[in-house]
Amino acid sequence: MKSKTIAILTSGGDAPGMNAVIRAITRVAIIKGIKVLGVLRGYEGLINGDIIDMNLRTVSNIINHGGTILYTTRSEKFKTKAGIDKAFNVCKAHGVDCLIVIGGDGSLKGAKCFAEFGIPCIVIPATIDNDINCSEYTIGYDTAMNNAMQMIDKIKDTARSNDDRCNVVEVMGRNCGNIALNTGIAVGATAILVPEIKFDIDKDVIQRIKFTQKMGKKHFLIVVAEGVKNIEYISEYIKSNLKIESRSTVLGHVQRGGSPTLKDRVMATKMGYFAVELFDNYFNNQVVILKDHKISSLSLNDYASIKKEFDLKLYNMSLDVSI
Ligand code: F6P
Repeated sequence: MKSKTIAILTSGGDAPGMNAVIRAITRVAIIKGIKVLGVLRGYEGLINGDIIDMNLRTVSNIINHGGTILYTTRSEKFKTKAGIDKAFNVCKAHGVDCLIVIGGDGSLKGAKCFAEFGIPCIVIPATIDNDINCSEYTIGYDTAMNNAMQMIDKIKDTARSNDDRCNVVEVMGRNCGNIALNTGIAVGATAILVPEIKFDIDKDVIQRIKFTQKMGKKHFLIVVAEGVKNIEYISEYIKSNLKIESRSTVLGHVQRGGSPTLKDRVMATKMGYFAVELFDNYFNNQVVILKDHKISSLSLNDYASIKKEFDLKLYNMSLDVSI
């Protein structure tokens, strides 16, 4: 009897911990007698038939590395019928019984569409943004937040050495304020601006700085989510309205690199393991999720109906502690 075959790909923005998922899937599957293929460069590589054999040693010494050994792309071709047809034929030619997709929201949508074409898919949520509604956690989020926190701590060292200075720092997260909110709390930001909450620059930034000035503060930190945009404008506004120095910094891709945290390595291993178990037990077309702190899965047909609320309680708490 032909052994079962799975193919793994990483897609969208790379996230620290993706390698740990690749490692877990490859090893667990091989131990179970399943053949493992690695697709290079995401859906784009699938269309082009960019496929390698994976073995136990292909994934040695990668658990501690950020990025993805399989490389990643954001594929426009995979959004077309012609692209999907090609990818379908590649899967058939390689005898792929299930495609395991490691990626964010766009990758999830791609997998749902591909599954409808007849290739069974399992998705593992991995993006630093933690913006996949159906899962409480996405791989890479913890590492990105820790990276951002450490870098802002460094900015704070210089801020503390200069009286009456404000630093406005933009963190990643696309349209989601989760990284900004948690990082902002962890670094003691004077104000945290996120796309989920409408803000008034006079009331929520200028007045807050003035208030904390009265409480004796001499350096101020504003953490802004990428989705808010305009950090230059915010910084200039502070400068001209408060007559203090203000500097803006976009942290950018440094947040996405580096060695994954313990949490991301363990979560990646658990989710990868779970995905292989799903496949081995004939549960395909699923997205692996974290729900109520437990790993489970959800049908690719159902994931879109779930909404994740922004943590307003945490946001309100942040306002009370950063004075
Ligand atoms: O989705 C992850 C992410 O890092 C977002 O936070 C950011 O908006 C985007 O990807 C950046 O994309 P790219 O690496 O293509 O510039």
